[in-house]
Amino acid sequence: MRGSGRPREWDCAVKWLTMDVIALAGSLRSASINAAFCRAAARLAPAGMRIAPYRAGLGSLPLFNPDLEAAPPDTVRQFRDALGKADALIIASPEYAHGMSGVLKNALDWLVSHEAFIGKPVALINTSPRAHHAYEATLEVLRTMSATPVPEASITLPLLGRCTTEEQMVSSGEIAAQIRNALGALQAFLHVGAQDGPSFPIS
Ligand SMILES: Cc1cc2nc3c(=O)[nH]c(=O)nc-3n(C[C@H](O)[C@H](O)[C@H](O)COP(=O)(O)O)c2cc1C
Repeated sequence: MRGSGRPREWDCAVKWLTMDVIALAGSLRSASINAAFCRAAARLAPAGMRIAPYRAGLGSLPLFNPDLEAAPPDTVRQFRDALGKADALIIASPEYAHGMSGVLKNALDWLVSHEAFIGKPVALINTSPRAHHAYEATLEVLRTMSATPVPEASITLPLLGRCTTEEQMVSSGEIAAQIRNALGALQAFLHVGAQDGPSFPIS
């Protein structure tokens, strides 16, 4: 169903709704390409989409320990709150020794069983075409956690060794166009979801 049987004003409101997206970089390196991608995406976001790189950084999270679940540390609460409020996530993360970065895995572990993560749309970005192991492993983890990877918005970009800074990404016509396309696909996905409305009965 795409908006049928609904007042016209409702559809207009949905059209102009601003979508909030949080961008997570799975690298703590100061010159991180993945962190630069998150900042570039924020600048290239289409109208109606606000992208905020997660400023506290995933390095602010303690190592995951289920014993802390009874009273989660403030940084974990803030992280969960920020993600809970976001309409979608962007994850850009490197491959280390054919695995996902410990920083990203640690962050995802804090979200296992966290209800705000269930069904959360995720654009998974790979900044290096040669790094497919971590990308596939991350997709598997996201699916296992019942998030919703958005294939049209999940792209591989040839940034490693070619286009490594935020400025280069924003000013490179070809790369900026690919980023804009991916963000447009994420926005389209979110709009379709919003127009479908709640899928649970409301009284
Ligand atoms: C310890 C280490 C292991 C790495 N292992 C791989 C790997 O298995 N496959 C790969 O494609 N790149 C690997 N790389 C390269 C990184 O993925 C690459 O440098 C990436 O840009 C790092 O992300 P960042 O720029 O966001 O920090 C490795 C880098 C380091 C430091």
